[in-house]
Amino acid sequence: MRIPLFPLPLLFLISVAHGVSDREQDSTLQIIHSLAAARPIIPIAWGSQVGAYVVKVNVGTPTQPLLMAVGTSSDASLVPCDKCSGCSSTTFDSTKSSTFNTIACGSPQCSQVLNPTCGRIGCGFSQIYGNSNVTANLAGDTLTLADNPIPGFTFGCVRSTTGTSLPAQGLLGLGRGPLSLISQTPTVYQSTFSYCLPTYKSSGFTGSLKLGPKFQPVHIKSTPLLKSHRRPSLYYVNLIAIRVGINIVNIPPSAFAFNPDTGAGTIFDTGVQFTTLVKPAYVPVRDEFRRRMGNATVSSLGGFDTCYTVPVTIPSITFMFTGMNVTLPPDNFLIRSTYGSTTCLAMAAESDGGVNSVLNVIGSFQQQNHRILIEESKSRLSVAREPCS
Ligand SMILES: *[C@@H]1O[C@H](CO)[C@@H](O)[C@H](O)[C@H]1NC(C)=O
Ligand SMILES: *[C@@H]1O[C@H](CO)[C@@H](O)[C@H](O)[C@H]1NC(C)=O
Ligand SMILES: *[C@@H]1O[C@H](CO)[C@@H](O)[C@H](O)[C@H]1NC(C)=O
Repeated sequence: MRIPLFPLPLLFLISVAHGVSDREQDSTLQIIHSLAAARPIIPIAWGSQVGAYVVKVNVGTPTQPLLMAVGTSSDASLVPCDKCSGCSSTTFDSTKSSTFNTIACGSPQCSQVLNPTCGRIGCGFSQIYGNSNVTANLAGDTLTLADNPIPGFTFGCVRSTTGTSLPAQGLLGLGRGPLSLISQTPTVYQSTFSYCLPTYKSSGFTGSLKLGPKFQPVHIKSTPLLKSHRRPSLYYVNLIAIRVGINIVNIPPSAFAFNPDTGAGTIFDTGVQFTTLVKPAYVPVRDEFRRRMGNATVSSLGGFDTCYTVPVTIPSITFMFTGMNVTLPPDNFLIRSTYGSTTCLAMAAESDGGVNSVLNVIGSFQQQNHRILIEESKSRLSVAREPCS
């Protein structure tokens, strides 16, 4: 089976970009110290209905299952709660959970959300996520991932939402900020996790999210993680150059420059489908690609501007990071339409303006069938090929 004809939500996601929960926060969060980490390997699937990668999460006691999207650029997890207006029919009914509690306004967790409000049910907040305006109150309950219970996990219990960006059954935040799953479990999982994303074509839970230093690859190439105080949720790396086939593309270094003050630079993100590069990087890459195709007739399709009806012959594209070259096979940079025989370069220029106009984003299509290992303690991000589709 081939990839469906670039469904609209898929192209839409190019502009939706990252969760907006990244901001400066102090770190006085109450953290979870002990839990029996059984075998912290959580299966991941592509949720074609959701347009995001999802994991099975059990919330509360007794457990209620949700298929939550994983977001490496989001911090606070968002769970659609009972009586949520604007949510889908699958919600978490907090009244049926014996371990559920709401979080008070004066609590340390409440100081971690932007502009908290104090209401009848404690600490509340609103957050923009893509085109959604999400209103939630902070709550705590046991979250069970595979067989690993995380008691007292803090999340946003969503009471209302607008728009279509919030994944229907919620979002599991794997970002670097204090309310993320990773930041809430530092002594258990030691701020270490990895994931392997299956292709959009695979239908089962064949990918995996591995939490903690156990079961992680050891000999794997890596690049330093960089941190921007402007956008502290994001996993920044230093992209230096891009090679198309054997040629290093002539790109001004400013297109890649990391700037912790503005948030410019390059990130890895599971919440964006296709890699987007700033224009001064994308245009030369695309032009080199077209040149290597012998200037064959180019068409555009949806958000892609370099599509062919003849066979594409470019063997590889290499992202060159500090200390690590990642050479992508064609499956990670060519997308085929269902109808006809159109093949497109599966990347785009970052749309002008807005907070993301200085950001290069390595999207999920480019990460498929690779293991991405993030080790905050070693301040590095590692990549290895791993078929998981
Ligand atoms: C989002 O919704 C909240 C609550 O209704 C509102 O106070 C806030 O102004 C909204 N934000 C935006 C950007 O529309
Ligand atoms: C493709 O076009 C470029 C720029 O117009 C030109 O320099 C190059 O020679 C062309 N390549 C082929 C194979 O026609
Ligand atoms: C990446 O590839 C370039 C050649 O294109 C090479 O000069 C460089 O040393 C490589 N970097 C690493 C870390 O292997």
